[in-house]
Amino acid sequence: MHPGLQLGFLEFEVARIDAWHAFLTEVCGLVDVGGGRYRMDGHAWRIQLREGPLDDLATVGWEFEDDSLDAAIRRLEAAGYPVTEADPKARGAQRRYTIIDPAGVPGELVTGLDRADTPFQSPVVKAGFVADELGLGHLVLTAPDPAATRRFYTELLGMRVSDYIRTTFFGHDVDLTFLHANPRHHTLAFGGPQRKRIEHFLIEVASVDEVGLAYDRTIQAGHRIHLTMGRHPNDEMLSFYARTPSRFHFEFGWGGRQLDMAIEHDTQVFDRISTWGHQPPAFAFGKPR
Ligand code: FE2
Repeated sequence: MHPGLQLGFLEFEVARIDAWHAFLTEVCGLVDVGGGRYRMDGHAWRIQLREGPLDDLATVGWEFEDDSLDAAIRRLEAAGYPVTEADPKARGAQRRYTIIDPAGVPGELVTGLDRADTPFQSPVVKAGFVADELGLGHLVLTAPDPAATRRFYTELLGMRVSDYIRTTFFGHDVDLTFLHANPRHHTLAFGGPQRKRIEHFLIEVASVDEVGLAYDRTIQAGHRIHLTMGRHPNDEMLSFYARTPSRFHFEFGWGGRQLDMAIEHDTQVFDRISTWGHQPPAFAFGKPR
């Protein structure tokens, strides 16, 4: 069954707003639509920037289909999470409520985010982005209490577990849980505490060459590569990771797996982060061993 939910928008509070503008438009290929907002698909906007010292994720916007929002609000309130009605016009939404997740990450539950009047065309990413009904992309959030985070996003918001990755990665224990909200393999993942509210967000493009072109632009613009090109075993995304101007990461990918919502998904535990690649540059390009 379709949970009727997607990642509707991300708002970042950033210290270096000019650097973020250049990063989103020239490197990622989003289009500035004014007011600190950036477009990447049929939605009027998907990313909002505001200037400030936080230098982190400010708000995650969860866009519900109308008929699933009320039930989610009832479940949150019954579990003791305050849900506060807010002005929907401030986000170009039909309905809007604010929440705080178990890790303290501010979220908004919205319906009916404004759609654009014109078809989307990026002057940079000619093939366009894989978004629209699959949502903006995905994100990895901090979760000091993974059980509480899991319950919040599954039992209360309505997402489902896709699978898990449990392994060690360059000496660090990794225990990641991946959740889907629609056919996109995962919209949200978490695996313990992070340095910031967000570890990374992903945007997906419609052609593999656009990943390579973005890799070149990322290097040319001087954004530090975090993980080299690689492919994940669970969502099958071919991607690379680099650092945003706020020092958390972004993932730029292609070929992400979509789940068949008509059948119950079989959850698996994967024993590696990547089938190939995704190596730290110091390991990949450091001294010959
Ligand atoms: Fe990712």
